[in-house]
Amino acid sequence: MTVGKFITFEGIDGAGKSTHIAFVADLLHARGKTVITTREPGGTALGEKLRELLLHEKMHLETEALLMFAARREHLAQVIEPALARGDWVISDRFTDATFAYQGGGRKLPLSKLAALEQWVHPHLQPDATLLFDVPLKVARARLQASRSPDKFEQEKADFFAATRAGYLRRAAEFPKRFHVIDSAQPIDNVHKALEKIVASL
Ligand code: TMP
Repeated sequence: MTVGKFITFEGIDGAGKSTHIAFVADLLHARGKTVITTREPGGTALGEKLRELLLHEKMHLETEALLMFAARREHLAQVIEPALARGDWVISDRFTDATFAYQGGGRKLPLSKLAALEQWVHPHLQPDATLLFDVPLKVARARLQASRSPDKFEQEKADFFAATRAGYLRRAAEFPKRFHVIDSAQPIDNVHKALEKIVASL
């Protein structure tokens, strides 16, 4: 049985989600919560090795999806599940919705195969809240261009990110209670206000 809360941050590359993780962690600390921040792919020693491969090696698209879930299995066992069982709050920079968006939307793998892997790896666990940072493609692309050494995903073309963004929005429409879609192109004060509201509601 889980007693802590599990919050995931999502969005296409360049959506600006990572800058908001520290802000939400601080809000939770101020409320006396113990917070673990982690990321996917990664979050464990093995997961970080898989991340290196996933972000820099060419591979079959199904291998990519399988490795995402392999890293996730380890992450759940080593980090997420023990933390939730202790009553900690876990903030993960990406989780399974990213696989549905990137491998399902962007790479166009059948969603039924991803759903089968989701069922295998975490049949009973879903985030308590998923914060989807959404921006128009142009804004995300402009932010990405500032990145000096783009990884395999960041090098993808605009239509890949359009399909990935659509994949996220489909997922948000499917799970409206869990998802909070945040307009990440608005001024940062407004984003912070939206985040404060969400944290209070949790
Ligand atoms: P990050 O740059 O936000 O840390 O994420 C690493 C990259 O991995 C990002 O481009 C999205 C991608 N990714 C997937 O394609 N599928 C997944 O399931 C996850 C967790 C990440």
